[in-house]
Amino acid sequence: MSCKRIFCSRGIQRKAAGRMLLLAAGVLVMSFVLAAWSFTGTVSAAEAPAGAGVKNPFAGKPEAIKEGEKIFDAKCADCHGGDAMGQSGPDLTDDKWIYGGSDAEVLETVTNGRKGGMPSWKSELGKDDIWKVIAYIRSLSKK
Ligand code: HEC
Repeated sequence: MSCKRIFCSRGIQRKAAGRMLLLAAGVLVMSFVLAAWSFTGTVSAAEAPAGAGVKNPFAGKPEAIKEGEKIFDAKCADCHGGDAMGQSGPDLTDDKWIYGGSDAEVLETVTNGRKGGMPSWKSELGKDDIWKVIAYIRSLSKK
């Protein structure tokens, strides 16, 4: 920047003031970013759905998925259709879940049943078998 006669000293002062302002703004932005960061950190931890840490031990395992398919055909296909795309029971291959689609929620649905006609399976299937059926359902997901 060129310095023009009488504006010269004022210009320098303005420049210095501008720098101070920039620095202050920078500090302000930094503290906002830090505050926002710690804020979202605590919020997401507090709002994590119950059972978020629950994971299907058979997810994506071909052998288990095959066993899950057998269980599905024997126990679930009458209501959910041979391809799980729905009959009297809802489609299990789309991304719409009445009772939630997380591992924990689907486990709860299949284990204890749901009021709209979904039976409880805990007395008939062990937990491993229920996980295998869920692994099979996941393998059919259209998503
Ligand atoms: C007697 C019929 C019947 C059988 C057998 C049955 N279901 Fe269901 N299922 C239903 C009905 C009806 C619903 C919907 C319940 C509701 O809306 O409250 C349902 C809901 C579900 C849901 C929840 C879907 C959602 O959108 O949240 C899952 C998961 C499910 N069934 C899995 C299974 C599995 C796995 C089996 C076999 C082990 C099975 N069902 C056997 C009738 C059945």
